[in-house]
Amino acid sequence: MTDQAAPAEAALPGKPTSASRTTLSHIMTANETNLLGTVHGGVIMKLVDDAAGAVAGRHSGGPAVTASMDEMVFLEPVRVGDLVHVKAQVNWTGRSSMEVGVRVLAERWNESTPATQVGSAYLVFAAVGETGTPRPVPPVLPETGRDRRRYQEAQIRRTHRLARRRAIRELRERRVAEGLLDD
Ligand SMILES: CC(C)(COP(=O)(O)OP(=O)(O)OC[C@H]1O[C@@H](n2cnc3c(N)ncnc32)[C@H](O)[C@@H]1OP(=O)(O)O)[C@@H](O)C(=O)NCCC(=O)NCCS
Repeated sequence: MTDQAAPAEAALPGKPTSASRTTLSHIMTANETNLLGTVHGGVIMKLVDDAAGAVAGRHSGGPAVTASMDEMVFLEPVRVGDLVHVKAQVNWTGRSSMEVGVRVLAERWNESTPATQVGSAYLVFAAVGETGTPRPVPPVLPETGRDRRRYQEAQIRRTHRLARRRAIRELRERRVAEGLLDD
């Protein structure tokens, strides 16, 4: 696992952010509510995963699997009759992984009031080959100032994800070495 692409892989041509940016829209129905009568958070998470998966597949030019979803934030409840737009783009690429940033917007389906942001999330997808093993992805080419900011922020999240995984793995190995077992 390294942030440095091997020379052969670096030859993959880059792809601009706009080439795979996607919006998935869906009207919320009464089938999708929780016990409070608003839309179930899991329904929104599914749409987020679907939109991000489409972006990851388009960017990488083939199958890609969800490796992680983090910082899923629900800012406002989503209601039956809301037209939800899930906007996703590749923020950052590594060797075989991509961070996809997702914004969730909602507007009343029959009103012309502006959509408001109701949620956001970051997902890491790994591009995989036929046997399910990771394969290289084209580097994403940020196009705007906002794309470049998102790229830099994604690098910070990547550093923290790797550090957290490493720290937890090391703690577990230390506990095993000390003979400390879970009850
Ligand atoms: C994701 C998966 C392909 C990673 O495979 P692996 O053998 O651990 O391969 P690697 O360690 O080389 O990881 C591949 C890339 O994914 C990244 N990655 C793997 N797990 C990650 C995680 N939990 N969070 C963030 N990034 C992750 C690695 O950093 C690496 O990125 P890079 O190549 O850009 O440096 C594998 O764990 C898998 O198939 N998971 C199941 C995915 C799935 O089925 N999702 C749908 C759930 S129903």
